[in-house]
Amino acid sequence: MSPPSKAVVYDREGAPETVTKVIELPAVEVKENDVCVKMLAAPINPSDINRIQGVYPVRPQVPAVGGYEGVGEVYSVGSAVTGVAPGDWVIPSPPSFGYLRSIDDRNQSVTFSVLCNCNYVGNLPCIGTWQTYIVKDQSVWHKINKDTPMEYAATITVNPLSALRMLEDFTTINSGDSIVQNGATSIVGQCIIQIARFRGIHSINIIRDRAGSDEAKEKLKKIGADEVFTESQLEVKNVKSLLTNVPEPALGFNCVGGNSASLVLKFLRQGGTMVTYGGMSKKPVTVSTSSFIFKDLSLKGFWLQKWMSSDKAIECRTMIDYLLCLVREGKLKYELELVPFNNFQVGLSKALGLQGSHPKQVIKF
Ligand SMILES: NC(=O)c1ccc[n+]([C@@H]2O[C@H](COP(=O)([O-])OP(=O)(O)OC[C@H]3O[C@@H](n4cnc5c(N)ncnc54)[C@H](OP(=O)(O)O)[C@@H]3O)[C@@H](O)[C@H]2O)c1
Repeated sequence: MSPPSKAVVYDREGAPETVTKVIELPAVEVKENDVCVKMLAAPINPSDINRIQGVYPVRPQVPAVGGYEGVGEVYSVGSAVTGVAPGDWVIPSPPSFGYLRSIDDRNQSVTFSVLCNCNYVGNLPCIGTWQTYIVKDQSVWHKINKDTPMEYAATITVNPLSALRMLEDFTTINSGDSIVQNGATSIVGQCIIQIARFRGIHSINIIRDRAGSDEAKEKLKKIGADEVFTESQLEVKNVKSLLTNVPEPALGFNCVGGNSASLVLKFLRQGGTMVTYGGMSKKPVTVSTSSFIFKDLSLKGFWLQKWMSSDKAIECRTMIDYLLCLVREGKLKYELELVPFNNFQVGLSKALGLQGSHPKQVIKF
């Protein structure tokens, strides 16, 4: 049997700060092919928040445990498990909601009685990384190098992998070329800057106007950003006139929408492509008629979860290992803030932006 698990659970969709509760789930059986993992760390990503809010297109049925990616240490293994042993570090790869992958996973549902502050009593699928112990089939877990900093291992899939895929999957960009992006302070944005940089690709970065934006600019330049502008700096007739020694980009990334997306489009060269992967401002992307007729721009979208359900996902673990290697070599860094599990609500509040801008919140169990 696994130990009991403390978990962040929501039994209805809604505002995360009101619907999430920490409860204790009872021990579950560790079957012959199962691995019981003691979670070490897991981030609070925007998509985790959107799932709880009920606005993400694919989400677990409630009641559910929050969280999608993370890292843990193998606590115990079933009798038929061969690939991992107690003490190994593993990540769920690709991450999943368990029961959405196969009917079999539904069998991992457990009946739990609520020990604190939650009225729900019923079946709860064993999913979600925001819990202290997870029991899942050995095929779910990918063993990683324990020399990796824990907070990076916990966050390597959703954002760094998206950055890598988006740089490779849309337009051929070579050393000496450039890209433009908004939301550059996001983890995806920081990864795009660095992966582009060591491939010899320049980056033009747009951030929002907010307290601390000067400091944010300096931080992005330190990790390799060529140009960083706040949106208000780009209120000029010709944004390209602000560029020094950076060629016009053929590829742009939009994490924000609204005016910020229009600014990405303004930087793109004739025939360029803008890839939308996030909508942090919750405002639509508006494109001028001339962008289509005279600049012949293309608009595309990227969704990691869709990519992971394609054939290409076989390569997922190889790419994760590559990214973790970059982390260990000091070539990939991003800002993170660890939050103890018993302060989950503080981390959640920061991740929701209720206390201004904060680095990515990573729960430490
Ligand atoms: N499509 C996909 O497959 C995929 C994969 C990964 C991530 N994403 C999306 O990518 C985006 C970034 O994710 P992340 O985890 O890298 O972000 P993150 O590290 O949590 O950072 C959040 C980013 O959003 C910005 N932001 C927050 N509220 C904003 C607002 N109201 N207007 C404009 N900008 C705002 C923040 O800017 P400040 O620094 O100024 O606070 C920061 O750059 C999210 O939308 C996420 O859902 C999509």
